Amino acid sequence: MPSVVILISGSGSNLQAIIDASQSEQCPINIAAVISNRANAKGLERAQQANIKTAVIDHTQFNGREDFDQALVKQIDTYQPDLVVLAGFMRILTHEFVEHYTGRLINIHPALLPDFPGLNTHERAIKSGVKEHGATVHFVTTEVDGGPIILQAGVAVKSNDTAKELAQRVLQQEHRIFPLVIKWFAEKRLVLNDNKVFLDQQQLPETGINYAQVTENQ
Ligand code: GAR
Repeated sequence: MPSVVILISGSGSNLQAIIDASQSEQCPINIAAVISNRANAKGLERAQQANIKTAVIDHTQFNGREDFDQALVKQIDTYQPDLVVLAGFMRILTHEFVEHYTGRLINIHPALLPDFPGLNTHERAIKSGVKEHGATVHFVTTEVDGGPIILQAGVAVKSNDTAKELAQRVLQQEHRIFPLVIKWFAEKRLVLNDNKVFLDQQQLPETGINYAQVTENQ
């Protein structure tokens, strides 16, 4: 089974969705370790409850981004992962880190990229008046939140939505699309080649696949 290392910074609800999928055999992966940059991340408890190895690499203990990322690479590579998953990992990574894992590094972002890269995506979506918001899973490249898109799920924005309510509905979609993308990768159906995404040998459009178009058996 492919070996996966998951990086988190917080609650780990996406991590939980991936753990659940791996345990129900929907998603044939071995989660080799969960690494957090914050010692108090709730996701660490979720991993421990599932008997998954955990590590904390506290970014505040390093002189700079380079040193922190080097320590992270060193730790991650002890598990020899086939895939590294950023599941709410709230650190910008150095080019060296990203290049080391190109083609086997994916992230989930709480917006329909290329709209709303960066932080506070739900507040910004509401303020901008968009009717549709959502979540994106993408391969990570050196452009922050700009890597090739794999899968997106849309969520309708209601006229009286608060950022919290919208975030909750987006998260529900995140929990569906992230394990699915990891399953595709584990089944070797998903490949990044020359900065383009291929699923079952078919090149995906710039905006990836729309989850609404995904059929049951995919
Ligand atoms: C998720 O909404 C994820 O998309 C977002 O952080 C949240 C983590 O929640 N990630 C980013 O904003 C990355 N820049 P979780 O810890 O409950 O999975």
